[in-house]
Amino acid sequence: MNTLEQKSAAGKYAATLIENGMVVGLGTGSTVKFFVEELGRRVNEEGLDIVGVTTSTRTAEQAGTLGIALADVDDVDHIDITVDGADVVDAQLNGIKGGGAALLYEKVVAKNSRRNVWIVDASKVHEELGHFPLPVEVVTYGAEQLCRVFDNHGLHPVLRRTADGEPVKTDNGNEIVDLHLDTIPFPSELANWLANQVGVIEHGLFLNVADEVIVGGDEIQVLKSP
Ligand code: A5P
Repeated sequence: MNTLEQKSAAGKYAATLIENGMVVGLGTGSTVKFFVEELGRRVNEEGLDIVGVTTSTRTAEQAGTLGIALADVDDVDHIDITVDGADVVDAQLNGIKGGGAALLYEKVVAKNSRRNVWIVDASKVHEELGHFPLPVEVVTYGAEQLCRVFDNHGLHPVLRRTADGEPVKTDNGNEIVDLHLDTIPFPSELANWLANQVGVIEHGLFLNVADEVIVGGDEIQVLKSP
């Protein structure tokens, strides 16, 4: 199976976890797209009755087009399960997220969910975090100054830009700085340090968030939180 087929297999498998009456957090990204597509099919063909809470305008548009009922995160009293993608997953099921710039809403929805399931292809699973630039959402005002702070801390920051050279804007108008780190041996320490920097809105270290990770492949692998 190639990467895309693995993403599709993981997404479709995750859709089998969804039951009538559930409030479902809908993540963001190319893997989640397969999940939402299959969920839409189940809603339309099987009459599956669910409410989705989305993590980005992209996912909201896809879900809306498919006829999945949606609610605002503040209008539900709980979220039963959230299915989201990840950029890297380590042996403890900690992850890096935000490759698609949706990390803030993804973290808000994840923190309000009873169960968090990530769907990935096999290339995302590593022993340690690293292997993918760590996204940090920052306020526009002072973003260049913050990059200097990151640089002085040895974090190799790069402000994410569009193909036209403009800073990438998140759904709520912030910018993304990617930290190019080979490995992240002490993720909690880095998470705490980042959270304490003025101008940082949120970072893409998702520690102790995932309950399960579904890895797509010829045979689906379900990794459970230790
Ligand atoms: C979105 O901001 C991200 O957290 C995605 O969930 C993550 O980048 C995985 O994306 P893909 O499924 O497209 O690889």
